[in-house]
Amino acid sequence: MLEKLNDLELEFLRQIREIDQIDQLNDLRVKLLGRKGEITQILRGLKEISADQRAEVGRVANEIKERIESKLQQRSGELKCLALDERLRAETIDVTLPGIPFTRGGKHPLTQIREEIQDIFIGMGFTVAEGPEIELDYYNFEALNVPKDHPARDMQDSFYISEDVLLRTHTSPVQVRTMEAMAPQLPVRIIVPGKVYRKDDDATHSPMFQQIEGLLVDTAINFAHLKAVLMTFAHRIFGEEVQVRYRPSFFPFTEPSAEMDISCVNCGGEGCRVCSYTGWLEILGAGMVHPQVLRYGGYDPEKVSGFAFGMGIERIAMLKYGVNDLRLFFDNDQRFLEQF
Ligand code: PHE
Repeated sequence: MLEKLNDLELEFLRQIREIDQIDQLNDLRVKLLGRKGEITQILRGLKEISADQRAEVGRVANEIKERIESKLQQRSGELKCLALDERLRAETIDVTLPGIPFTRGGKHPLTQIREEIQDIFIGMGFTVAEGPEIELDYYNFEALNVPKDHPARDMQDSFYISEDVLLRTHTSPVQVRTMEAMAPQLPVRIIVPGKVYRKDDDATHSPMFQQIEGLLVDTAINFAHLKAVLMTFAHRIFGEEVQVRYRPSFFPFTEPSAEMDISCVNCGGEGCRVCSYTGWLEILGAGMVHPQVLRYGGYDPEKVSGFAFGMGIERIAMLKYGVNDLRLFFDNDQRFLEQF
């Protein structure tokens, strides 16, 4: 019996050297130490061995069993290491592969223009004010001297949320909001950039667009101040060579009112398709603040006066960059946006 045990161990040692797969190792374990394994059988059969040999055989069998177990353990560790090594070798990183390129973003052309316009007015002492896009009918119309059912409301087709609330159709409501907050301090000198909404949709009109409003209220402000500020603006944004002209117009919240035109940036005033062969381009509405609006704002029109203006940012951008379809600004086509 002792001899048989010895043979089993020798055979085991020979086999384990040849094993290079974990599952083969398991097979070998089962063959010797499993429930019906050869060593297990011997240990189970001990009681049938004569008493004088039993202790000796039992001791040797247990020693061999332990040695086999630790050998199996050791080999299994080695095989796991080898497998890991192999995987790591296969997964080496090729450091010469090109990286994943990323492109740098940029400011939207409308943002660039808005900031450019803001900077020009900030340079003339204006500060930036803002107001809500969901606005009360009161500020959008009534406090701007446009009573309910006044025909002037037709100029701006509006999105109403309820009878008293709408999406603001212009940035002018911030005129009265700011005056209310500041009165009686002077001067009021603000520009108001922001989104506005009208029921329009074609190549030159979008239901959402952006405006910049301007308001200056102080003692003894007259139309010459308006002209000086707006001419400076036109020269800074379109170049010193542009001509400026004013045409009489009507807004309920300014009196007198005017539209400011610049000489066509495309043809220089000769007449072309961009200016409909007039040589002029309309770029903003303006005027002296109506006395009634000053009153709504908390100022005394006998003591103070002011001017206001409003322009569309998209329109300025279209003229400055020579873009003929407004919708390009909202399509998010990178081939278009990358050009700015
Ligand atoms: N709010 C006017 C518009 O949207 C523009 C404007 C502003 C006119 C201020 C005069 C004074 O058409």
